[in-house]
Amino acid sequence: MEIKEYIEGHKSRFIDELLDLLRIPSVSADRKFKEDVVNAARYVRKSLEEAGADKAEICHTDGHPIVYGEKIISADLPTVLVYGHYDVQPADPYELWDSPPFEPVVKNDKIYARGACDDKGQFYMHIKAFETLMSTNSLNCNVKFMIEGEEEVGSSNLDVFVRENTDKLACDVILISDTAMISMEHPSICVGLRGLSYLEVEVTGPNRDLHSGVYGGAVANPVNILCEMIASLHDDKGRITVKGFYDKVQDLSQEEREALNKAPFDLNEYKRDLDINEVHGEDGYTTIERTGIRPTLDVNGIWGGYTGEGAKTVLPSKAHAKISMRLVPDQDSAEITRLFTDHFTSLAPESVKVRVTPHHGGQPAVTPTDSEAYAAASAACEEVFGKKPIPTRDGGSIPIVSLFKNELDSETVLLGFGLDSDAIHSPNEHYGLKNYFLGIETICHFYRQFGNK
Ligand code: BES
Ligand code: MN
Ligand code: MN
Repeated sequence: MEIKEYIEGHKSRFIDELLDLLRIPSVSADRKFKEDVVNAARYVRKSLEEAGADKAEICHTDGHPIVYGEKIISADLPTVLVYGHYDVQPADPYELWDSPPFEPVVKNDKIYARGACDDKGQFYMHIKAFETLMSTNSLNCNVKFMIEGEEEVGSSNLDVFVRENTDKLACDVILISDTAMISMEHPSICVGLRGLSYLEVEVTGPNRDLHSGVYGGAVANPVNILCEMIASLHDDKGRITVKGFYDKVQDLSQEEREALNKAPFDLNEYKRDLDINEVHGEDGYTTIERTGIRPTLDVNGIWGGYTGEGAKTVLPSKAHAKISMRLVPDQDSAEITRLFTDHFTSLAPESVKVRVTPHHGGQPAVTPTDSEAYAAASAACEEVFGKKPIPTRDGGSIPIVSLFKNELDSETVLLGFGLDSDAIHSPNEHYGLKNYFLGIETICHFYRQFGNK
């Protein structure tokens, strides 16, 4: 088989090229890495050119650049738009990495580096699949690539780019590898992503830090108050108490829930992996449902007062927290941000002032399982993994997916090859070489199936 042979024959170069890309610390959140982000974009452009794109360009935005490339063969063939992101999360805390995050190493058949799975390793599979199809003369679709540099910070400039370039980006399907599958033995295709509403809260008490003995007991402590306010955001059934929060949540039918829960999942193994004695969440829902189809509210960070060495007796002036809510259809990110702001502000006692500052957000998205593109992806997975993939709902967010549907009027297929154990966003992020190569092969088969329809 030609495709398999080509991949097999170029394995070591396919790895080396990805390692070179992983050496570039393209952290979008930190302005210190701005030049590196541009260098990563240049690397992607060059890779697209070398793989056989007719056109590969760097598109400037108000933030980090977007790389666009294409190979248009014929107006009669279907067009696939590949989306991915070359930016990565910050690698902190560096001391918890076994090897430096931007000095990739291959160990136990896995590549260790920040971005190895999310998303450099995954979008690079698409460039190598494209190269494979070009070199074996078997590309039977038009291909467009849009690889952005701001996914990890909310994709706000991509939003503008997509709205302004709907003709350029016109396509029959959007193909994305930036999600996980259940396991190598149980291939799956993600058909749902949660939305996000992320904000920061500040509670202010007295106008300065005070002696906790002289004033303690008589003046509100903003850290105490913030903790009470946050604690009240869930009730004893694990439901979120923000007024109106569940109003637009779509409840799934019993059949849909049963189908979701048929996915292989071992609760004991899950607990063992995380070193927890029990799972936790909304009453009446399984773990799969709690992460896939139910919304959440979590504190991502909380600070205030003295946190240095030893003890300092202080009644702090301010307390802060970063709070995220994961959303499900049909919740709207802007509306939830508003509901939270109103609710949280109303919780504050007279003794403190509260300020809520929104960060980024994104809408939830569900992709269809009855489309030709899904059928092509399913057949491609089955061919390579030997099993029909199961549709799953992932808990993470890719904010741009819902915009694609609205602006480009095209469906998305989330053909991801990561594993939950790949430690994305964590120290020692990695990506299996097997996932990388089987992913490339599956993507090649996707084109063949989709192009032959
Ligand atoms: N690739 C992830 C999203 C993801 C991970 C989806 C695993 C499904 C399974 C993406 O890069 C990501 O991390 N998104 C952020 C949102 C963004 C606005 C910062 C997230 O989910 O926190
Ligand atoms: Mn990602
Ligand atoms: Mn990510």
